[in-house]
Amino acid sequence: TEHPLMLSVNGENIHIQVMADTPLLLVLRNDLALNGPKYGCGLGECGACTVLIDGIAARSCVIPALGVTGRAVTTLEGLGDRDHLHPVQRAFIEEQAAQCGYCLNGMIMTTKALLDRNPSPSDREIRQALSGNLCRCGTHIEILRAVQRAII
Ligand code: FES
Repeated sequence: TEHPLMLSVNGENIHIQVMADTPLLLVLRNDLALNGPKYGCGLGECGACTVLIDGIAARSCVIPALGVTGRAVTTLEGLGDRDHLHPVQRAFIEEQAAQCGYCLNGMIMTTKALLDRNPSPSDREIRQALSGNLCRCGTHIEILRAVQRAII
């Protein structure tokens, strides 16, 4: 059976019906057509599906959508778009930090959460914050440079 779900996504109030065990990621991608968050492992281990919940980075593949009732969810789309890029998005583009790009949603959202709580992190703090976000292409150096650029 379906249950009513009310939440805010990128500043918009959403009312939909969801199954009890539907992960937030599937609601975002399938019901709301927000494809910034990616489906990677589906197990909470890679970070590709990261969104912000009340400003905190969270893995939307393992969070039941009903668990975020009444909360404010921000996806990559909520940071900025082509015409109004968020400084973190701009920095990742300028440093050409993407190879395949699949991890970048998680890298950018985790960076945004990091800079919100610590506006000038050290390299060590950046590495620590992003250590749970997996990148198979090995563009870690470019990603580190992008975060450093976003700080300035
Ligand atoms: Fe959610 Fe990998 S898809 S952590």
